[in-house]
Amino acid sequence: MSEPLLPPIGMLAELTHRCPLQCPYCSNPLELLKANRELDTQTWLDLFSQAADLGVLQVHLSGGEPTLRRDLEQLIAGLSARGVYTNLITAGVGIAEGRIEAFAEAGLDHLQLSFQGARPATTDRIGNHKGGHEKKLETARRACAAGLPLTINAPIHRHNIEEVPEFIDLALSLGAERLEIANVQYAGWALTNRDQLMPERAAVDRQAEIVAAARERLTGIMNIDFVPPDYFAIYPKPCMGGWARDAFMVTPDGTVLPCHAAQTIPSLSFERFGPRSLAEIWTDSPAFNAFRGTDWMQQPCRSCERREIDWGGCRCQAMAIAGDAAATDPACAKSPIHARMAMLIDEAQRAAAVPSKDEPFVYRRIGVVTEPA
Ligand code: SF4
Ligand code: FES
Repeated sequence: MSEPLLPPIGMLAELTHRCPLQCPYCSNPLELLKANRELDTQTWLDLFSQAADLGVLQVHLSGGEPTLRRDLEQLIAGLSARGVYTNLITAGVGIAEGRIEAFAEAGLDHLQLSFQGARPATTDRIGNHKGGHEKKLETARRACAAGLPLTINAPIHRHNIEEVPEFIDLALSLGAERLEIANVQYAGWALTNRDQLMPERAAVDRQAEIVAAARERLTGIMNIDFVPPDYFAIYPKPCMGGWARDAFMVTPDGTVLPCHAAQTIPSLSFERFGPRSLAEIWTDSPAFNAFRGTDWMQQPCRSCERREIDWGGCRCQAMAIAGDAAATDPACAKSPIHARMAMLIDEAQRAAAVPSKDEPFVYRRIGVVTEPA
C-alpha cells in the first residue's frame, strides 16, 4: 500500500552553477548553466514563498557557489521572514568583506563550509584554485565571529582519504559543531572521474575505524556524520530519504527535481517553476510520482523487509550501472548485478595505477560539456 503524500520538509536551492572551484567530484550536472539562465531575485523569492506555503521547513542554499549571487542577502531575508531555517553551503573562497556578517544579519541560521583537503596542497589541487585553503580558513573564522554555527564538509575520495584524521583535527580547531565525512557519490562529475576518485578497499576500512573511534572520543564535543562509499556497501543509502518523499531540489533555471542526478534518467521529463506552481509539481508531476513509495519496485526490493528503510536505494545509480532506473540499486547485495560494483572498483584501481604526467581529473568547468539549447 502506498503511504499518503506528505508535504516536503527540505529543499536544496542551487542558486547558480558558477563557482571559483573546479572540483572533479562535483554533483552538478555535466551541462552547467551559465549566469544568463539563472532565475532572477523575484522569481526565487516567489519560489521560496511557495515552498514555505507547501510546508518546507529548511532550505539549503547551494550551487555552484551561492555567494556569487549578489542578491543572496535578500534571498536569505525572504526565507527568514517566512520562518524557514537556512543553511548556506559554500566553498568559502572569495567572499567579500562584510558579506558573511550581512548573511547573519539577514537571518542565516547555519553555514556549511567544504574543504577539499585537510592539507593546503590537497585543497588547492582538488579545487584547482591556488590559495583556496587559506581563504577557507578565513571564512570559517569569520563565520564563527559572526555567531554562525559551522559544519565542515569533507568530500572523501582516493586523493584525500588518508587525511581523515587531519580533517577531524581541522574541524575541531575551527570550532565546528559538526563534521561531515562524506564519501563522494558517483554521479555528475564524480561519475566522469570515477576511476581516479575511487579509493582502495583497505583505505575505506581504515577510514571507517578512524571515524568510529573519533565519534566515541568526541561525543558531546563535535558531531561527526559519516556517509560511507556506496560501492563498498552491502545495503544502499536511502538516497534523498526516498524519491520525492520529503525533499526536492531546484536548479539555477528553476527546474524542480527529486534529486541531483535525476536528469540522467532519460525516460523522465522535469518541469520548471513558473509555468507550474511548486505544489502542482510536488503533487502531480509524473517524474516525481515515478518512483514514489514502493509500488514501482521490482524484485528483490518489492518483497524486501528493508524497502521502507532505504526505498530501494538510488534511482540514478541504478540507471548509471544497471541501465534501468527501476532496478534495485546495484549497491545492494541482493541486486543481481551487485558483483558489478566490485568489478568497477577493480577497474578503477587498475586505471588509477597507470602513471600520468598530467592531472588525471576532468575538472568541472562551464563549457567543458556544452549546455543544452
Ligand atoms: Fe533495499 Fe531493495 Fe536491497 Fe531490499 S533489495 S535492501 S529494498 S535495495
Ligand atoms: Fe537520484 Fe540518488 S541521485 S536518486
